[in-house]
Amino acid sequence: MNILLTGGTGYIGSHTAVVLEQSGHQVVLFDNLSNSSRSVVNRIARITGKRSAFIQGDIRDQDLLRNTLIKHDIHAVIHFAGLKAVGESVTQPVNYYANNVQGTISLLQAMQATGVTTLVFSSSATVYGQPQYLPLDEDHPTSATNPYGRSKLYIEGILQDLVDSSSDWRIACLRYFNPVGAHESGLIGENPQGTPNNLMPFIAQVASGQRNELSVFGSDYLTADGTGIRDYIHVMDLAEGHAAALQYLETHPGFQAINLGTGVGYSVLEMIKSFEHASSRPIPYKFTVRRQGDVAECYANPNKAFQLLGWKAHRTLDDMCSSTWKFQQAVSETYEI
Ligand code: NAD
Ligand code: WQD
Repeated sequence: MNILLTGGTGYIGSHTAVVLEQSGHQVVLFDNLSNSSRSVVNRIARITGKRSAFIQGDIRDQDLLRNTLIKHDIHAVIHFAGLKAVGESVTQPVNYYANNVQGTISLLQAMQATGVTTLVFSSSATVYGQPQYLPLDEDHPTSATNPYGRSKLYIEGILQDLVDSSSDWRIACLRYFNPVGAHESGLIGENPQGTPNNLMPFIAQVASGQRNELSVFGSDYLTADGTGIRDYIHVMDLAEGHAAALQYLETHPGFQAINLGTGVGYSVLEMIKSFEHASSRPIPYKFTVRRQGDVAECYANPNKAFQLLGWKAHRTLDDMCSSTWKFQQAVSETYEI
């Protein structure tokens, strides 16, 4: 089928495009390139041997979206487009709500106008706020601690209301845990602009010598080694989860919120050790104070994804680190942004 990927040239969108093209779907990438590069379109084609259509545009341009949905005879949408830096969302809340919430409303209006009613949305484990119990299942209460997280919660609420309003809609909110890793080719991956906010790209830049050392935020959490624990999931496993969700929606109208995680947590020190092994490089680090807003531990109960979608993550931590390292080396040598 023909599938529109908003934010399709971004980190998770590009890997999902590869999985979908390789499963026989036709992908249309729609992106304003605010956090990605046009060269990703070629890179996807080099991996798949097929050229996905690309439209440069903003999801708040409803006319362009509507025309795209019609012109490409779109059957379903996967909505990745949005801003995702937690700290930036605190200093630029209006920009975050405009991009994420207003952008989603624009997309939904375009879909309504053209009769496209199947949607997979990029949500986040951040909607669980401070964990009240672990592992986190989909019934865990939701809350937000920053505008980014609140934008995801608002959107999930809007999507639930939409499904309640009409039985035509088929919507899955996929709550990602911590996506890391890259395609095995080393052609696509996460290439953040400026200083990385997230652990894995920061470690990769330390390993490549771009940065001197990693600051480990907190050594006094009530965890085995005192550092924070997260559920890191390989981006290719995550991408396959989107294909499984689309397939599920074909036969199941309604609304579902589904965790995409592995169910296993690793500490910051375990991540450093694993990356040192994968890259054969030392990762110098120092302990600093806790980062404001961080939780000690966060990992998924992934059972619902397996029960509903028949999907579970199978790639290892070593796969995550070695693919990140392969991509990082390619970036250091050749990548144009
Ligand atoms: P990304 O920044 O690499 O990709 C998002 C893409 O959306 C970028 O290519 C950007 O240019 C595009 N975009 C942003 N605003 C747009 C707009 N108004 N119109 C058109 N395009 C626009 O991020 P990602 O890591 O691939 O994340 C994809 C989605 O998954 C986001 O919605 C993010 O909030 C969500 N998510 C990401 C993570 C993570 O850790 N990476 C975790 C949970 C949820
Ligand atoms: C992981 C661990 C840090 C950087 C964020 C967003 C969340 C979601 C995923 C989108 C933590 C520690 C990190 C560093 C460190 N994104 N760390 N030094 O915080 O779980 O989640 O990304 O939805 O909304 O909040 O991921 O990669 O930033 O941190 O010690 O330089 O690494 O304290 O324990 P996080 P992260």
